[in-house]
Amino acid sequence: MEAVKVGLLGLGTVGGGTVTVLSRNAEEITRRAGRGIQVVQAAARDINKPRNCDTSGIDLTTDPEAVVNNPDIQIVVELIGGDGLARDMVMKAIANGKHVVTANKALIAKHGNEIFAAAQEKSVMVAFEAAVAGGIPIIKAIREGLAGNRIEWLAGIINGTGNFILTEMRDKGRDFADVLKEAQELGYAEADPTFDVEGIDAAHKLTILASIAFGIPLQFDATFTEGISEITREDVTYAEELGYRIKHLGLSRRTDKGIELRVHPTLIPERRLLANVDGVMNAVLVMGDAVGPTLYYGAGAGAEPTASAVVADLVDVVRVLTTDPENRVPHLAFQANRLSDLPILPMAQVQTAYYLRMQAEDRPGVLADVTRILGEAGISIEAMVQKEPMPGSDKASIIMLTQRVEEQSMNQAIVSLEALSTIDGKVTRIRMETLDAS
Ligand code: NDP
Ligand code: HSE
Repeated sequence: MEAVKVGLLGLGTVGGGTVTVLSRNAEEITRRAGRGIQVVQAAARDINKPRNCDTSGIDLTTDPEAVVNNPDIQIVVELIGGDGLARDMVMKAIANGKHVVTANKALIAKHGNEIFAAAQEKSVMVAFEAAVAGGIPIIKAIREGLAGNRIEWLAGIINGTGNFILTEMRDKGRDFADVLKEAQELGYAEADPTFDVEGIDAAHKLTILASIAFGIPLQFDATFTEGISEITREDVTYAEELGYRIKHLGLSRRTDKGIELRVHPTLIPERRLLANVDGVMNAVLVMGDAVGPTLYYGAGAGAEPTASAVVADLVDVVRVLTTDPENRVPHLAFQANRLSDLPILPMAQVQTAYYLRMQAEDRPGVLADVTRILGEAGISIEAMVQKEPMPGSDKASIIMLTQRVEEQSMNQAIVSLEALSTIDGKVTRIRMETLDAS
């Protein structure tokens, strides 16, 4: 049977990796898909630029529209990134009756509802395994492998760049900016790396995970997002002294009042497997009512790990090219007309424990004021450490771990603490999760 013809939009880190994997593993892939998969055309900004793959036999163009309008092409693989040109091209490809594979989480998180509706209308597939956690087949695991479960919660390290930075800072004492530069050189970071360090990329991915876990529409704007740029080496050290690691987590949980949807640095007990996921590796812990906890681990970014997921999607699309559209796996795991209207829980109502660090004058009565404010807000202290002032400073560091409390109570307490004349500057607050899967 003739090979399925594929058009690539983008020939950068992931595009190049995809060409390489398709070519190196062509025989195995054909045996799996039942047909060969051939990249016939690829668009890039500069077609004369040296590439990380062999482009011989591929028609290179600077015009992405030429690819989405090419009548020979059955599957368009979008690897440009962003949600401007990428969105236009994906919508045009769908309108032209082409199946789409994308690694673009920003596109799916922000425009997935519209894209899936258009795809449903035209009976084409839109596959996006590579959009979450790089090479880990987490979309397939939740959407298909755990389809028998009521998912209770999931938590994951879902940004490779951020995890790489936190690991290098902790293990080698390296500087934030220096590690970020290396992540960019290795092709891990987004075109705009603030997406990685401010948690936006992880929020895109969590939005997608929550939708397929709970059967809710994609709601990126409702995701609480905090990045790692404020994490200091001191916080990393103090957390370790208390038996915790700081990880940048995406966390979504079903509660009686709605769905928690939040991305932020989190203290987790060092004995947890997630606490030991280092470097560019990602991991997602999913709690299903029937299966219990399951953990998925692998490379979260990089050319070939991501290409692994892109190619798996291509194989899936080739396998079901002829399947009745009504009987395909739904984009968001649940049938499009059966999505739930469960609300996303406002962050103010989310309950977590907290790590607090503040700089205080080293004199009697200060601790009493701090504990009084926390007590009045109904916040119980789990552990407390006071560090002597550094030479030349008259401020001591007070580090506290609290029990679980609603975010709004903590917000009020922090305002009162920062108003004390004996407390210097801002109070650092990092949320804590035990991730107890028992
Ligand atoms: P790159 O920046 O390496 O590649 C982007 C490609 O798009 C380049 O080949 C670029 O051309 C091309 N391009 C950009 N604008 C245009 C345009 N106007 N017309 C034609 N071509 C254009 O990005 P990545 O490969 O890293 O990422 C691609 C997608 O995959 C993104 O959505 C990203 O979020 C996602 N992703 C990335 C991962 C990674 O590890 N890097 C992992 C998982 C997902 P040129 O090369 O000539 O500049
Ligand atoms: N910039 C992303 C990351 C790429 O570092 O995780 C993979 O999605």
